[in-house]
Amino acid sequence: MEIISKSQEKTKLLGSYIGENLSSGDIVGLFGELAVGKTILTKGILLGLGMDDVSFVNSPSFLIMQQYEIKGLKVYHFDFYRINSVEEAYNIGWDEILDSGGICIIEWAQNVAKIMPEEYLKINLSIENKSSRKLKIVSEGKKYEKVVKSINLKLEAERKKTVTRNKNLC
Ligand SMILES: Nc1ncnc2c1ncn2[C@@H]1O[C@H](COP(=O)(O)OP(=O)(O)OP(=O)(O)O)[C@@H](O)[C@H]1O
Ligand SMILES: [Mg+2]
Repeated sequence: MEIISKSQEKTKLLGSYIGENLSSGDIVGLFGELAVGKTILTKGILLGLGMDDVSFVNSPSFLIMQQYEIKGLKVYHFDFYRINSVEEAYNIGWDEILDSGGICIIEWAQNVAKIMPEEYLKINLSIENKSSRKLKIVSEGKKYEKVVKSINLKLEAERKKTVTRNKNLC
């Protein structure tokens, strides 16, 4: 499924729809270059999971993983921009964390492509122009097909609401 987001706010809102559909043990891999919107999308996902304040969430410059707790659920936010070798991921407990039952959000997943699990929600972001981004959301493996469907339904419902609202204005 492909979506064009025409603003940072829309990307965040889309992230919240994704977050609302995630549950314990889910893994999200974010692929895309610098400043494409991975962290903005992550903030939206965290909002959708129920985090109140996401203002402190950023792309960590030194840490490759930040941990949050949202409504009793552990959420692991990885950023592999600076990773030199996959050993660095193993050293912070990659396998254990992926299996821990927490939710994992992985920025720069392309830098750890060879150690990504078999199944995860794959999101490919690319720049269309200054304020517009293309997001491609697919289920890698079968596990996340339901999640992709739910996000699609939510977006369709939102689109219908907007159309109805516009009609009412006429
Ligand atoms: N439609 C859009 N969606 C998301 N961000 C957008 C959009 N249009 C413009 N932007 C801008 O693009 C930038 C995205 O920043 P963000 O930190 O989320 O990127 P990133 O992919 O995490 O980058 P990095 O790899 O450096 O961590 C922000 O400055 C944001 O304002
Ligand atoms: Mg980032």
